[in-house]
Amino acid sequence: MHKSSTLAVPDAPEIPRHVAIIMDGNGRWAKRRHLPRFAGHQRGVEAVRTAIKCCVDRGIEYLTLFAFSSENWRRPAEEVALLMELFTGALTKEVVKMHRNGVRLRVIGDLGRFDSRIQSLIGEAERMTAGNTRLTLTIAANYGGRWDVLQALSRLVKDKPPAADGPIAEADLAPYLSMSYAPEPDLFIRTGGEHRISNFLLWQLAYTELYFTDALWPDFDAELLDQAIAWYRGRERRFGRTSEQVEAGGRQKKGEDAELPAGTSRRTRVNA
Ligand code: FPP
Repeated sequence: MHKSSTLAVPDAPEIPRHVAIIMDGNGRWAKRRHLPRFAGHQRGVEAVRTAIKCCVDRGIEYLTLFAFSSENWRRPAEEVALLMELFTGALTKEVVKMHRNGVRLRVIGDLGRFDSRIQSLIGEAERMTAGNTRLTLTIAANYGGRWDVLQALSRLVKDKPPAADGPIAEADLAPYLSMSYAPEPDLFIRTGGEHRISNFLLWQLAYTELYFTDALWPDFDAELLDQAIAWYRGRERRFGRTSEQVEAGGRQKKGEDAELPAGTSRRTRVNA
């Protein structure tokens, strides 16, 4: 199991080990160009490709993308259908490429609501890529953070009914959460200008650094990812401790800050 940020002080790597993204702004990107919303989602898929490649190139080990929330079913039926088509297309066309590039694919969420073809494509893609280790790409589809905690709790109670008045420990629940195979995200990015978590990884984001950008998802490229990483590297990740405690545990080498963009310091290194 990976370290829990509330039970222990995890590593704070200079390059985030796990990046989680809410890809927002496809519709507005299209609207500004007088295009249908679908065109924005199509360009969004291209931005997904770019993000995967950038993460592989930068040695990021886990990338988690919020593709479809449990609340997105509220959108007009034809937009939902188009998003499903894009998802199916990506699962059929992109997975072989991902496999060749060492990407392991995982899909999290309440998949029972998808049609059986999508469910079997997901199963096949996960099986095909299961042994890859370069990047774990997780797609959250029909996912909600509250759903995740509740499904974990229900499965735990079914497997190991706790004593009637016995407490449930965090470590008991952790293996049942959808992302038990991954460390908690170091960096969360939301594009599109909103400052919300929107029922994404509620449990897992406990100590994640939260980065919001006005850039619309179809415009999100290598440069914007690097800006987010530079911002992350300037954060002091205290995990509940004081700044002095963090400094005391530091191993910062002299002169390292010179490599960073103006206004940032390599404070994430101090408790690495
Ligand atoms: C948010 O933009 C985007 C989504 C709800 C869907 C994201 C989907 C993709 C990028 C394509 C499919 C993904 C994969 C992994 C194949 P919005 O429509 O809410 O934009 P708006 O806020 O500007 O209206």
